[in-house]
Amino acid sequence: MKPQYGIIGCGNISRFHFEGLRRAGADIIHISDIHESAARPYIEAFGAAYSADYRELIANPQVTVVSVLTSAKFHREICLAALAAGKDVICEKTMANDADEAEEIMRAAEASGQLFFNSYMKRFYPAVQQAKALLPRLGRLFSAQVRAYQRWEGQYYEHTDGSEHQWVLDGYGGAVVKCAGSHMIDMTLHLLGRPESLYANVDFIPGSQIDRKATALFEYADGLVASYETAIHPLDKIGHERDGWDESLEVNGTKGRIQVYTVKWDASEHRPALLVHYDNETGTSTEYRYDAIDPFHVEMQYFHDCLTQRKPGAPNHTDGFYVDVIIAAMMESSRRRASVDLDWRGR
Ligand SMILES: NC(=O)c1ccc[n+]([C@@H]2O[C@H](COP(=O)([O-])OP(=O)(O)OC[C@H]3O[C@@H](n4cnc5c(N)ncnc54)[C@H](O)[C@@H]3O)[C@@H](O)[C@H]2O)c1
Repeated sequence: MKPQYGIIGCGNISRFHFEGLRRAGADIIHISDIHESAARPYIEAFGAAYSADYRELIANPQVTVVSVLTSAKFHREICLAALAAGKDVICEKTMANDADEAEEIMRAAEASGQLFFNSYMKRFYPAVQQAKALLPRLGRLFSAQVRAYQRWEGQYYEHTDGSEHQWVLDGYGGAVVKCAGSHMIDMTLHLLGRPESLYANVDFIPGSQIDRKATALFEYADGLVASYETAIHPLDKIGHERDGWDESLEVNGTKGRIQVYTVKWDASEHRPALLVHYDNETGTSTEYRYDAIDPFHVEMQYFHDCLTQRKPGAPNHTDGFYVDVIIAAMMESSRRRASVDLDWRGR
């Protein structure tokens, strides 16, 4: 049966989901937002029903898939309700507020037998997919560097007590690690698998809970260490496109190196992500250049295909849980100023 979508949350991120699903030819039949004005343009565009209360959407027997696009603080409540009602779920990242909530969602998804996708769309850049395909050609991996620097408006390092940035905690439950860094944690897990332990330093605006920079070492069983850093920064023209977006991943092996450079998340249709592969046997570097695509569109088409064929896919509930485990361990490691063994809770 063709999936029938209900979308909960019509804020910033929703336009990418709506457009991706529209391109995939999906049926969006019910929309919920506590603010009708936010939902109105989509209700009209898709001829969908509207409810201010998301529970009405979940109770609609015609809806087979629920997309959860509210801020993460509501993900647990809404995902659990959708799964209990027998719906498949697409949930925006981060999957939950913390690792405990994420575990609860993961176990509920597994127990339900429903399909569950956690939206980390950067996996769907062709450059990232090609990077994964090239990894076996790098030989034994011994080192990786991962960076997620984003230019945000406002003062984060000087003359601030943090109160002007409270919106980010209210909306997302954290600042740079949750908003920017989580994607590159997912990409590191996607390409390199799960580390055994990590050591982190998280830098907060003094006297606040606003994390403005986080540095970590992810330590793997075979000796591979990935150094990771995410930061809000004030610089205008850094990064590979010199537009203030400075996000990259480099992996070094005994036979070669790959470097991936991503582009500004909400303007991907203008600029493509870049992949460079250095092959030590031939001594040649290859730049993989692609047409600019929006990874949300690729991701939505993929989720829609999985849901139509009723086949599991990734990133899923386990991937979302893994990212939240890493974030929790980074916070703990920084607090304790000690290395932390990662507890994958039986996974
Ligand atoms: N993939 C990415 O690069 C990316 C970028 C930005 C945001 N996000 C994620 O997307 C999610 C949403 O972020 P956003 O920036 O769109 O937030 P937002 O605040 O702009 O939008 C959230 C919407 O949900 C609505 N809402 C809140 N509670 C609700 C409820 N109980 N029922 C129905 N509607 C409700 C709000 O009214 C609002 O319109 C977050 O998890 C965030 O981390 C991902």
